[in-house]
Amino acid sequence: MKINLKYSFAIILVVVIVACSPKVKTTTTAPAPVTDPIILARITEGKSIYESNCNKCHALFNPGKFTETEWTKYLNVMAPKAKVSNEQKDAIYAYLSNNAKHKN
Ligand code: HEC
Repeated sequence: MKINLKYSFAIILVVVIVACSPKVKTTTTAPAPVTDPIILARITEGKSIYESNCNKCHALFNPGKFTETEWTKYLNVMAPKAKVSNEQKDAIYAYLSNNAKHKN
């Protein structure tokens, strides 16, 4: 079989281009959406506890306004003010953290 030089060059060129092109980024900063029905129920419960207990002294804050870390901090201060039980506080946290601001 006679090797066609032009053809070989074309193939090498294609291989080099493919090998050197930047990789497509597949990483994403947003976490996968929650699908577990038990956790979803907890988030829904937390939302209603949040909406009926956290607006007595100020308007409700949009969960997306703060990161999970910030919500942990605020909730530790605000849960005693709102006089919610630890269980209610956990449910509120489930709701807030699920809708919190993503870092970067
Ligand atoms: C008894 C009144 C009261 C209740 C109930 C209350 N808060 Fe507050 N909250 C305050 C006051 C007063 C401030 C502002 C001064 C401070 O930071 O302590 C505040 C501030 C905040 C802030 C800070 C906002 C910022 O930009 O700095 C967040 C977030 C917050 N509350 C969330 C909550 C959540 C969540 C709940 C329900 C668990 C709640 N609060 C219930 C009185 C309350």
